[in-house]
Amino acid sequence: MDNPSRDRVPGYLLPMCLQHTRSPTLRPPQPLLSAERIAARVAELARAIDAALPPGAIHVVVILRGAFVFAADLVRQIPRDLRCDFLGVRSYGAATKTSGIVEITHDLEWPIIGEHVLLVEDIVDTGLTLRHLLDLLATRQPASLRVCALLDKPARRRIGVSVDFVGFEIPDHFVVGYGLDHEQRYRNLPFVGVIDEG
Ligand code: IMP
Ligand code: MG
Repeated sequence: MDNPSRDRVPGYLLPMCLQHTRSPTLRPPQPLLSAERIAARVAELARAIDAALPPGAIHVVVILRGAFVFAADLVRQIPRDLRCDFLGVRSYGAATKTSGIVEITHDLEWPIIGEHVLLVEDIVDTGLTLRHLLDLLATRQPASLRVCALLDKPARRRIGVSVDFVGFEIPDHFVVGYGLDHEQRYRNLPFVGVIDEG
C-alpha cells in the first residue's frame, strides 16, 4: 500500500521514516534536521560548553522527558567530570501549545547548592517553562546556572529568557523526533521533523 510519506521525505531518509511511521495512526514527519547534522552540532555544543564553564565538575540537569536523547549524546561529548540528575516537568496545555503552568513530576535527587549547573532542555518555545525552571533552580543557590537547548523557536517567545547554548534556531513549526514528542509519540525518530498541527 502507498505511504503518503513517499512524497514528503528525501529518499535517503525514507527507510527510517517508514520504519518509524509504520503505524497507520502516525503521521509521517517532514525531515528538518538530519541525524548527521544533529550529531555534528552536538559535538560543537559540547566543545563550547567545556570551553565556557569554569574548571571542575559540572552538574548536568536533564529536563525530562524531551531532553533525554539530546542529553545522552551531549554528555558523552563533554570531556569533564560531570554528574547527571533529572528533573521531570509537565507543562499543561493543548497538545501542541504550552500554558506556562509547570508541574514538577520528578524532582532532583541531589542538592545543587554551590554547583556549576548546566540545564539541558529540548526546545525553548514561549520560554515560559524555562523561565519557571530557572527561577526555581536559582532559589537552590547553584554557583552558576547555564542553559543548553537543542532547539530554539524565537518567533514564539512570550517571556525573556536567555539560553547560553543553542543547537539550532528553527521556524515556528511543531517538531518531533530526537526525544521530542507529540502526545508521547515520535521520540525514537533519529532526526527532527515537522508534523502538521491537528
Ligand atoms: P515553552 O514553555 O513554550 O517554551 O515550551 C517548552 C516545552 O514545550 C518544551 O520543553 C517541549 O517539551 C514542549 N514543546 C514546545 N514546542 C515543541 C515542539 O515543537 N515539539 C515538541 N515539544 C515542544
Ligand atoms: Mg521539554
